[in-house]
Parts: sequence; structure tokens; C-alpha cells
Amino acid sequence: MTSANKSWGGRFSEATDEFVQQFTASVDFDQRLAAFDIEGSIAHATMLERIGVLNEKECKAIVDGLSDIREQIARGDFHWAVQLEDVHMNVEARLTDRIGDAGKKLHTGRSRNDQVATDVRLYLRAEIDVISAELIRLQTALIDLAEREADAIMPGFTHLQVAQPITFGHHMLAWNEMLARDRERLADCRKRVNVMPLGAAALAGTSYPLDREFTAQLLGFARPCANSLDAVSDRDFAIEFGACASLIMMHLSRFSEELILWTSAQFGFIDLPDAFCTGSSIMPQKKNPDVPELVRGKSGRVFGHLFALLTLMKGQPLAYNKDNQEDKEPLFDTVDTLKGCLRAFADMMPHVKPRRSVMLEAAKQGFATATDLADYLVRQGVPFRDAHEIVGKAVRIGVETRRDLAELTLEELQALSSSIGDDVYSVLTLEGSVAARDVLGGTAPKRVREAAAKARQSLQD
Ligand code: ARG
Repeated sequence: MTSANKSWGGRFSEATDEFVQQFTASVDFDQRLAAFDIEGSIAHATMLERIGVLNEKECKAIVDGLSDIREQIARGDFHWAVQLEDVHMNVEARLTDRIGDAGKKLHTGRSRNDQVATDVRLYLRAEIDVISAELIRLQTALIDLAEREADAIMPGFTHLQVAQPITFGHHMLAWNEMLARDRERLADCRKRVNVMPLGAAALAGTSYPLDREFTAQLLGFARPCANSLDAVSDRDFAIEFGACASLIMMHLSRFSEELILWTSAQFGFIDLPDAFCTGSSIMPQKKNPDVPELVRGKSGRVFGHLFALLTLMKGQPLAYNKDNQEDKEPLFDTVDTLKGCLRAFADMMPHVKPRRSVMLEAAKQGFATATDLADYLVRQGVPFRDAHEIVGKAVRIGVETRRDLAELTLEELQALSSSIGDDVYSVLTLEGSVAARDVLGGTAPKRVREAAAKARQSLQD
């Protein structure tokens, strides 16, 4: 194909260099937008008929032709030509082949600049809905686990040192909170995705009396973009999505890190289902937590894509520049990676089995009830700083004699403070300790069950 028979070939006297043709083409990757491109074109044609630019027959030919092409693409028997550069020109050329002159009228009052921006928004809006549904699936698994394990005691850590006893259910709900914020952020991002560039044409708007409100309505957009220059050049919405996706991946990566630690022989807090692990080709005893490791690893590429998109935009003058063609691959890979990771997690979490006895044993190491002893002393009227000091001494005895606080004798404890009575042992147990954290947002099993019910409720919002 020479430049002369491309849709923009009129002005050219020389054929495009063959390598340049390959280099500038995007059809290899933007063909994934085809269904959205066709949806946008059908809406545009319908609007053109309404304002009298197309007659009824032309519009029908376009809509039928595009619908056939859509089916052909879905069946996989559409030939994508790199000479036709991108998805838009491939579809339009095929339409004109099929229906003749009416096909050539479709592009009236439109440019690929507003067309591509519309396609990407339609694509991303649909994917955000899929991703939100996957988030809900994962949240449901976490809330189920939280309910089931509301009173399963485990050590809570700060600095990865045993800090205070908590429950496994409480820990699952902490993860759920992160995902709840992620879903909220996505819903907010969706509002800015859901505006329509069509009608901005190349950059300045168009001299045809387009009914942009009508087209927006047909495509389910909240409204048309307000400024034509901004409409064709804005990719904030993709960057914002990249930031939302990065936060989700950062959260999944943190969850992964904990799952990996917890499955190690040194922790042994949980069992991961065999179906989500793999073995080693040399060490027969191994069962590796591949899924969380991969998810942790994949977070890097999503963060990278966010930076690719930011960098792509930072030097661009208004309005459209070909640079923008580079928005697609990072965006598509962000969507694919995120969906894959969420799916793996949502499938895996319902099969995670906490080992209650191991977690309980671990919570007994590391003087996890030291704060409870201090709180007990405060309730007896000892100022908190003095109580802190007294408990510190008790811990030292425990360290030196390799005993937990609950194993110190009453005489030993009373030698440190006369405010200690024999009722002290009830606060030194792990069950007593978690039950005492009976504050809104606390780890008491009763509070965890309440919080789980509330979290389940908010999945409906
Ligand atoms: N393939 C192009 C892109 O992805 C479509 C828009 C091209 N517009 C243009 N004036 N060259 O951005």
C-alpha cells in the first residue's frame, strides 16, 4: 500500500518508509479496543443521522456493517493490516470495503484524536467494573475468614517483634480495610474516566452541529468533556487509574509478604492450598508459595507503568501528540496484571487454613501481655510510667529465667509492686488480653465479629 491510498494519503507523494510504517503502527496492540471503537462509531453515526448529516439508509448501512465487523473480529477472522496503522483505520477501511460510500461519511465531524480518547475511556470504564467485582470477591473471602477466625489468637507484631496478642480475624479485617479504600478510590477514578471526548474532533471542535449530549447519553457517559483541547490530550484518567492500581498492588504485595512469612517453617501460622503452590525440581521437601511471591513481584511492573504514563505526559504541549499512542501498552498491562493478581488472591484466600495451635504458641513467646500487666497496674492507681518500669523489670526476670509473665509467681510479682493481687493472672492470659481490647476497632473477638458484619454490609454500597 502506498501513502496515496491511506486515509490520510492525499497530501503525500512518496510512500511511507517500510520500517517507519511498522514503527508508527499501533494495530498490534490497539486492536484490543475494537469492540469499543465500534460501539463509539455506532453512537457517532446514530447522532449524525439525528442531526441530518447521514440519511437513514446510510446510517443503517454503517450500523449493520460495523455490527458484522464486530462479529468477525470476535470470531477471530478479521485480517489486521499494519499498513492501516491502527484499529480505527482498519475498522473504517473494512467498513468502506463492505458498504461503499456511506462508510466514508462515518468520520464526519470526528478525528482519530477524539476517537481514540473515547475508546480508551470506554475500555477502562468496563475494566474498572470488572476489577471492582474482583475486589468484592476478595473482600468477601477475607470477611468470611475473619468471621470464622474471630477468636483465633495470634501474635501481633510491630517491628516484626511480638507486640500484643491479636486475633487472626482482626488481621484479615485490616487487609479488608485497605481493599475497601482501594475500591472507593476506583469508584472515584471512574467518575473522571466516564466523560466523553467525542465532538472535540482533532482539537478545536467541529463545524458540524453535533449533538454531543446525545452521543454521550448513547454511550452511557455522564457528560461530554468541556474543552476540546483538553478532551483530546487528557490522559490524567489513565494515570489516576495507574495510581489506584499501584495502591492495590502495593496492598496485595504486603499481604503476599505476610502469607510468605506465615507459610515458612519458622512461623508455620497457615497452610496454603497445594493448588496454589509449586514444588522444587531438586529439593523434594519443598512447597513454595509461588502465587504470593509472583504477586509481590508483579507489583513492580504496575508501579513502573504508572511512572511510564506520568513521564509520557510531562513534556507534551497541547493538544494531541503521537506520544499518546504509548499510553496503551502500560495501561493494558496494568489492567491484565491487576486482574490476574486479584483473581489468584480471590481464588486462594477461601482455602487458607490458619493453624490455631501454632499461632497460640507463638503468641506466648515474647511477653505479649506486658501491656496488659501495665494496664492492670494503672487500674490499681499506679501512674502509667511507673507501671511501665515495673513491668519492664518483670520482663527482665522472665527473660533471665526463660518464663512467660503468666509463669512468674505471685511473690515474684508482688516484690515488684505491692499493688499486684492474685487476680493479676486473669489479665496475663492471651484470651483475657484480646477480650480486653474491647474498643471500637479493637481486636476483642466480639468487636471483630461486629466489624466483620459491618464490612459485609458495606460490600453492598
Ligand atoms: N493510534 C493513535 C493513538 O493511539 C490514534 C490517534 C492518531 N491520531 C493522529 N493524529 N495521528 O494515539
